Amino acid sequence: MYKVAVVGVGRVASEILDILDAREFPIKEIIILGEGEDIGKRISYGEDLTLTIKDIHKYNFEDTDFAFFCAGGEIAKKYAEKIAVEGTIVIDCSTTFRADPQVPLVIPEVNIQELYEYRTKGIIASPNCTTVMLLLALAPLHREFEVKRVVISTYQSVSGAGSEALDELFEQTRGIYVNQPFLETKKVFTKQIAFNAIPHIAEFGEDGYTAEEKHIINETHKILDSRINLTATCVRVPIFIGHALSVNIEFNSHVSKEEIKRILEQEESLGIVDFNADEGYVSPVESAGEDKVFISRIRLDETVENGANLWIVGDNLRKGAALNMVQIAEEIIKIM
Ligand SMILES: NC(=O)c1ccc[n+]([C@@H]2O[C@H](COP(=O)([O-])OP(=O)(O)OC[C@H]3O[C@@H](n4cnc5c(N)ncnc54)[C@H](OP(=O)(O)O)[C@@H]3O)[C@@H](O)[C@H]2O)c1
Repeated sequence: MYKVAVVGVGRVASEILDILDAREFPIKEIIILGEGEDIGKRISYGEDLTLTIKDIHKYNFEDTDFAFFCAGGEIAKKYAEKIAVEGTIVIDCSTTFRADPQVPLVIPEVNIQELYEYRTKGIIASPNCTTVMLLLALAPLHREFEVKRVVISTYQSVSGAGSEALDELFEQTRGIYVNQPFLETKKVFTKQIAFNAIPHIAEFGEDGYTAEEKHIINETHKILDSRINLTATCVRVPIFIGHALSVNIEFNSHVSKEEIKRILEQEESLGIVDFNADEGYVSPVESAGEDKVFISRIRLDETVENGANLWIVGDNLRKGAALNMVQIAEEIIKIM
């Protein structure tokens, strides 16, 4: 049994608590850590436990076995390395350690072999939510047909930008009906998010790509294969929970729709819903609260040799973050 700390009290943290309980993670003690006004607030865990949020800055991690970091990059930078050296296994979902060559970046279904490297620094990074969804589908197809090039367009929900973003969509949507100027509700997003689509997630780089687009590219190279050519356009859309990806793939060998479907159907983490009919596909809203990532609209792309198109949707807070983090901890327990 393990002593577990959840660092952060936002959307991902809340999903982690839910998932730890639902999956009966072997917990002897669980602590939730926040700061400022959150300290002292109470959060329920499971059916009959209430946790009081403790001050991250005063907490002694000494005998804590696992720490799930989901309070953003600043907190991860401040505490993760220090407590990992002292023996706490850190699982972090911010961007802080994802590119660190000494930190494994893991999706258990895709590159579980990398997990052994956790001993180097005591930290494991969980990838960007869109990377997780993309690679759950891409990895088995890459093993079979070798992926040559991928073009991705994303439709990402506001919960990917945290709790404040959810409030902003809600307030703006309501505000539009009562003629409230949108600037009064603008906090997180650069443009109006209600009834709109914003092709701008995280900061722009000099080449015009956003950090979010680069994360998908770099993380795919680190996790799957650095030879895959990949380009992405990431778009924020007014959905509360659930990301979608439109993915065009070119393979190095011949593919058929039936083979793609057969291979993806073998993956436990995926749900294949692909009928040429009304409701024969999954939309982001339907993926909210689900652990599986869903694949629909499987089609061959006849404009290139060995091309195919997929529609991928999933709950960004669950498999895109919290569930992946808990699965990482479960796998570490097996190899400790
Ligand atoms: N949402 C997703 O789909 C998703 C997917 C993958 C990874 N992630 C990553 O998960 C982390 C948490 O995301 P979230 O969606 O749970 O966000 P959230 O709902 O906004 O919660 C963020 C949490 O971090 C705390 N926090 C933020 N900045 C802080 C700082 N400088 N010092 C101390 N605490 C700070 C917040 O505390 P206060 O409430 O006091 O502000 C809150 O507890 C982020 O690193 C994000 O990049 C999110």
